[in-house]
Amino acid sequence: RIKIAIIGAGSTYTPELMEGIIKRKESIPLGELALMDIDGRKLDIVGGLCERMAEAAGLDCPVVKTDQLDDALRGADFVLCQIRVGKLPARVLDEQIPLKYGMIGQETCGIGGFFKAMRTIPVMLDLARRMEELCPDAWLINFSNPAGIITEAILNHSNVKMLGLCNVPYNMFKSIRETLSLPQADFTYIGLNHLSWITGIEQNGKDYLKSALEMGLNSEAMKNIPSSGFDKELVQLVGAIPSSYLEYYYFKNKKLKLLQEAELSRGETCMRIEEELLSIYSDAELHVKPELLASRGGANYSEVAISLVDAIWNDKQEKHVVNLLNHGALPFMEDQDAVEVTAVIGKDGAKPVAVSDDFDNRHIIDYMRMVKAYERETVAAAVEGSTEAAMRALMMNPLVGDYQAAYDCFQEMKEAHKAYLPQF
Ligand code: G6P
Ligand code: MN
Ligand code: MN
Repeated sequence: RIKIAIIGAGSTYTPELMEGIIKRKESIPLGELALMDIDGRKLDIVGGLCERMAEAAGLDCPVVKTDQLDDALRGADFVLCQIRVGKLPARVLDEQIPLKYGMIGQETCGIGGFFKAMRTIPVMLDLARRMEELCPDAWLINFSNPAGIITEAILNHSNVKMLGLCNVPYNMFKSIRETLSLPQADFTYIGLNHLSWITGIEQNGKDYLKSALEMGLNSEAMKNIPSSGFDKELVQLVGAIPSSYLEYYYFKNKKLKLLQEAELSRGETCMRIEEELLSIYSDAELHVKPELLASRGGANYSEVAISLVDAIWNDKQEKHVVNLLNHGALPFMEDQDAVEVTAVIGKDGAKPVAVSDDFDNRHIIDYMRMVKAYERETVAAAVEGSTEAAMRALMMNPLVGDYQAAYDCFQEMKEAHKAYLPQF
């Protein structure tokens, strides 16, 4: 039987995972579920609902709530990690401070995402060290953001087996299959986390990309990105369907203006939703995931995560899009670069599927290489506490670029987040 540990289980997203676990209870024989969080209040409320969900679904396994990381990890087979270091107030700082310097404030992109990485990487590396000792054979499945940069850090600085996850690819595929009425469509998906494109659509050997580009097809935007969408001219000149996170890059000026004019930052909105969710979760009669959770950006992430556990545990050799080291799958990226691509998943892990030899979309290749250069320096800055690496990183980021703005904003954000930046 399997032991799953959820780290950051006080997150209001946890009932989503719980639902996924319940849905697959036949194929994932759960022996123990450990819910770990340092926030006792949230763990009590969210964990309470999870216990009621488990009981109502006849899940015959102990659910243990704990604030002790080691207890959660000991003997785990899968460690699902969804932490937010500094919680939503830190996110609000990531979103608001950059705006003063004329830069986009977003939790995973630009300088906001950079500081989220600075806070999160030290904690994730500690987690990896504990896993190496307490459950060296376990899989770490991580959605803590910025998920791509975290993958880059963990897989290059620890020995744990790890996959990074995001719901963007799943949601893009789902929405395109529905829009084009191609329920069996296969996709070629290439990129880094939150910087990705669909470069192929195929069903029964027939290619649908060209016609999709001609009609200016978009995939459904995520709930958290007030979307304007991409027009026909744009998708055609890119030659691929961009994920909605590319709006921050392709429409930088317009997005900046929208963010500056917004009454509330996304983090502030999420704080309100979170309190509302916690009050709903507190109802002792409730034993299902409430509808309100769908107003968060994480839709379908339980499916993404738990289907991955299923594929590994049951050696399904199934295709999933995950974040992992490139190891030659994309010939234009280094072997040690974390990329977000399709991989075949089974008991021995994930093997990235090589992109076809004739892939020659220079826009995508060069964009990925530039942002990867940013990510690589970001990991170095986080691990070494190097301000020089931080500046080199930020100067490579298309949402930052300007040295003076980067430097001034870096100083202010470093001060604002100092409780969570042990390396600086
Ligand atoms: C999408 C992204 C996640 C991100 C979430 C934010 O699902 O893929 O990486 O965490 O949106 O949603 P929120 O409701 O927190 O703004
Ligand atoms: Mn076991
Ligand atoms: Mn994501």
